[in-house]
Amino acid sequence: MRNVLVTGGAGFIGSNFVRYILQVEPQVHVVNLDALTYAGSLENLRALPDPERHTFVQGDIRDRPLVERLLVEHEIDAIVHFAAESHVDRSILGPQAFIETNVMGTFTLLEAARTVWGNRRDVRFHHISTDEVYGSLAPDDPPFSETTPYAPNSPYAASKAASDHLVRAYGHTYGLPVTITNCSNNYGPYQFPEKLIPLMLLNALEGKPLPVYGDGQQVRDWLYVEDHCEAIWLVLRRGAPGETYNIGGDNQPANLAIVRQLCALLDERFPDSPHTPHADLITHVRDRPGHDRRYAMDIRKIRTELGWRPRHTLSEGLRKTVDWYLANQDWVEAIRQREDYRAWMERNYAARE
Ligand code: NAD
Ligand code: TYD
Repeated sequence: MRNVLVTGGAGFIGSNFVRYILQVEPQVHVVNLDALTYAGSLENLRALPDPERHTFVQGDIRDRPLVERLLVEHEIDAIVHFAAESHVDRSILGPQAFIETNVMGTFTLLEAARTVWGNRRDVRFHHISTDEVYGSLAPDDPPFSETTPYAPNSPYAASKAASDHLVRAYGHTYGLPVTITNCSNNYGPYQFPEKLIPLMLLNALEGKPLPVYGDGQQVRDWLYVEDHCEAIWLVLRRGAPGETYNIGGDNQPANLAIVRQLCALLDERFPDSPHTPHADLITHVRDRPGHDRRYAMDIRKIRTELGWRPRHTLSEGLRKTVDWYLANQDWVEAIRQREDYRAWMERNYAARE
């Protein structure tokens, strides 16, 4: 791995990954292709370690001539594909972009890789996917394993499932050296404040209601983003072509418990705030249509085959996350001021009250 094309590297996980790989791989050069949609920002790429080994290109993964040119000109030998529309609520209100980017975009990247790489086997196409492709678990079901049948429930999950199938098929049919990781819910620095944890954090700081969907007893498997980056890097270096690895945080609290933990952390930091106790801001609102009840990941494969395990407990990760958002108020403020962000908050939440 000398020249890595990261797609979606100005988004939440992608930017954390760019930072991570520049740190741990002193020889690697990263080309970062990102369309800078509402979810991507150059602000997420400030103060990179060794920035001369990072080239940012604003462009769309569906632009095949552009992708082919980048693969050739930068002699790319690994693609790490994060770029996607990633928010379930947006997929419910407007699914088309999810099909275009997640399905057509992945297809375009695969075609470009197949064309430029031909029969090379010393390359890697790594696709980042989600636990949501497996559907929803009942309370006593065992966690998702790599062989759990796909049963995606939201347009987002369906579009990711479709892209996973394409990646797998390109490995099987054309011998493209592919790997896939399916990861659970991430949290940490640079997460766009439309997702549960940063949204609750920012609302709580402003004394706004904390909108918990339905009864708040839905369960997610939370993973600190840096641990995810480490897992991807391991799969890139040591994962076997054609294989899929599940990644998860090994902890599954209900949403309400997560929100309460965040409130407790803020109470600790701001005992004199007029909003303390912050848990008083919790408000149950109308549920998400088709809301998956429970996700949980069986991570034995990546643990036994590659020796990976999450390093952060949930409370350590949440503490770091709260500290990061408090220390980066300028980053937060820039998003809060944006018209498209306000419009999204209005569109998604006004109708739930
Ligand atoms: P994000 O929404 O924060 O970032 C997505 C990035 O992709 C943005 O920078 C955006 O500008 C870029 N992008 C979107 N459409 C593009 C296009 N057509 N061409 C080029 N760039 C485009 O997403 P994230 O949370 O960082 O997720 C990254 C990946 O990880 C996604 O594939 C997602 O499905 C997957 N994933 C996310 C989570 C999670 O909890 N966030 C969990 C498991 C898997
Ligand atoms: P989210 O961060 O959108 O991730 P995903 O839907 O991909 O799991 O949501 C995490 C959980 O939090 C999910 O069960 C929905 C719930 N949720 C709320 O209760 N309120 C909110 O305002 C948001 C954004 C999410």
